[in-house]
Amino acid sequence: MGKLDGKVAVIIGGTSGMALETAKLFVEEGAYVFVTGRRQEKLDAAVAEIGHNVTGVQGDLAKMADLDRLFETVRDEKGHIDVLFVSAGSGHLGQFVHNVTEQVFHDTFVTNVKNVLFAVQKALPLFRDGGSIILNSSIAHRKALPGIGVYSASKAAVRSFARTWAMELKDRKIRVNAISPGPIDTPHTADAPQEWKDGMIAAVPMGRFGEPREIATAALFLASSDSSYITGADLCVDGGLTQV
Ligand SMILES: NC(=O)c1ccc[n+]([C@@H]2O[C@H](COP(=O)([O-])OP(=O)(O)OC[C@H]3O[C@@H](n4cnc5c(N)ncnc54)[C@H](OP(=O)(O)O)[C@@H]3O)[C@@H](O)[C@H]2O)c1
Repeated sequence: MGKLDGKVAVIIGGTSGMALETAKLFVEEGAYVFVTGRRQEKLDAAVAEIGHNVTGVQGDLAKMADLDRLFETVRDEKGHIDVLFVSAGSGHLGQFVHNVTEQVFHDTFVTNVKNVLFAVQKALPLFRDGGSIILNSSIAHRKALPGIGVYSASKAAVRSFARTWAMELKDRKIRVNAISPGPIDTPHTADAPQEWKDGMIAAVPMGRFGEPREIATAALFLASSDSSYITGADLCVDGGLTQV
């Protein structure tokens, strides 16, 4: 018996990295998943990798019409949602207070804050009472990490949304939680300068990057009834970076 038997999950930004691992684990645990990404080729590869009980819907979280099309597809194919994992997000290194541009600020806050809000808003009409919403934040909102202040502030907003929405949705018994990953070995971090990676490894008590699967298992916990008494929380999966 799987932990998500019969559940319908939507994973936004699910074609690589930690969210792809999450999609695979959710299916192993009995869910049907909808995954999104902007690039069709990557989406097709992800759907093939997940293998079964999956629908890929190409789309950009930033486009309201794409979000509408995503949730129309979910409604037409399954009729409802039990779990939503909003994972897509982005940031830039080297953006200090003295040199950060308006464009970086705008792009980061649109992708990581505005788009998360409207993804959740547009999913709500399909949500079954008792569902689980998981927002991908970052340990960056808990630490001073020079050069990524705008990203960190955007992820603080995501963490804040989890608090407020936990209250706003409690009467529908929808739980809302954030995950704050530490440095995780994904395509997103693969291209970062080695010096930055070494600095992160040195700061992590466990002395390594996390694996995408280690975020997937945390997401499974928050998605399933194993976390039935947890809402409004921020689950740090960071090798101890922000905890000791
Ligand atoms: N990796 C880390 O160390 C780390 C640490 C803390 C927090 N995080 C957060 O964790 C999340 C996932 O990171 P990751 O490292 O797994 O990233 P990743 O490997 O780069 O994957 C990002 C996924 O999101 C999709 N995506 C990006 N922008 C999108 C958009 N506008 N609309 C729809 N899909 C979009 C990408 O596909 P397409 O490019 O084809 O759209 C891809 O499927 C992000 O929010 C990131 O900020 C990452």
